[in-house]
Amino acid sequence: MEKRIVVTRTVPESAVEVLREVGEVHVCSQDGPLSVPELHDAVRGAHAIVTMLHDRVDAELVAAAGPQLQVVANVAVGYDNVDVPAVTERGVTVTNTPGVLVDATADLAFGLLLAVTRRLGEGERLLRAREPWTFHLGFKLGTGLQGKTLGIVGLGDIGQAVARRARAFGMNIAYTGRRRASVEVETELDARHLPLAELLRTADVVSLHCPLTEQTRHLIDAAALAAMKPTAFLVNTSRGPVVDEKALAEALREGRIAGAALDVFEHEPAVEPALLELDNVAIAPHLGSATVETRTAMAELAARNVAAVLRGAEPITPVG
Ligand code: GLV
Ligand code: GLV
Repeated sequence: MEKRIVVTRTVPESAVEVLREVGEVHVCSQDGPLSVPELHDAVRGAHAIVTMLHDRVDAELVAAAGPQLQVVANVAVGYDNVDVPAVTERGVTVTNTPGVLVDATADLAFGLLLAVTRRLGEGERLLRAREPWTFHLGFKLGTGLQGKTLGIVGLGDIGQAVARRARAFGMNIAYTGRRRASVEVETELDARHLPLAELLRTADVVSLHCPLTEQTRHLIDAAALAAMKPTAFLVNTSRGPVVDEKALAEALREGRIAGAALDVFEHEPAVEPALLELDNVAIAPHLGSATVETRTAMAELAARNVAAVLRGAEPITPVG
């Protein structure tokens, strides 16, 4: 019997081709995310499931699929949507897509950082509103990055890629994280390891590159924002719930920090309405990995993980 592979949302055709070599592929081609009942319905009888970051992958999903399920391949580097212990203890392999989205995400983090520090969104809104303007020396002045300190929370692959870009812009690097980076990485980036409190107190830009876990949920809360300099910017391209969005809106409105650049939101796809009213916020709809090249590479890696497991080989990038 052919193995059944369910893909919960449209993926690039090249990934579907990889999957077709190992089974019968069912791609759910609806417009939005599947609801939980729809998801459970769709995966019935699946040997492999290719999931998106908005799909909840837990014991219930495994039960809905049935005992033949072998692998869940999440098309994302983050896997906070997956209850990894619950899934793996039922004998199901979980994989993610590290590596292939590092540069795209770091580029977007830097783009958003430039957008907020140089007031690009504000300027664009002004022009599109057909408002009158003329060049003058005090017009829409932003903040330069040279000589400023970038404080990175989580110096993993993406954090390091952001740090490299920041070095090219003449910034100094500080970082905090569960683990100390290697001496080679610290030396290359001239990166100083600091406790979070010290990093918040001293950084001109705080950029989040940690996974969402119970330890990092609301890591940036009202107290953390209060610890930041009033001239500092916050950049979040990790996961929305790492930041208390209401506290952030409050801090921005009261000028307790200078601005924020956000690609992810606490209750995605909803965005805290107060943030949309503020000019000192640059926002994007979760576009971190959204290049043709990167999304193709992510989907292909997920497909190759599925193919490996269904062929009885080791997964390429397992988690847990
Ligand atoms: C995207 O947000 C990812 O985790 O890959
Ligand atoms: C600015 O446009 C300049 O020419 O200095």
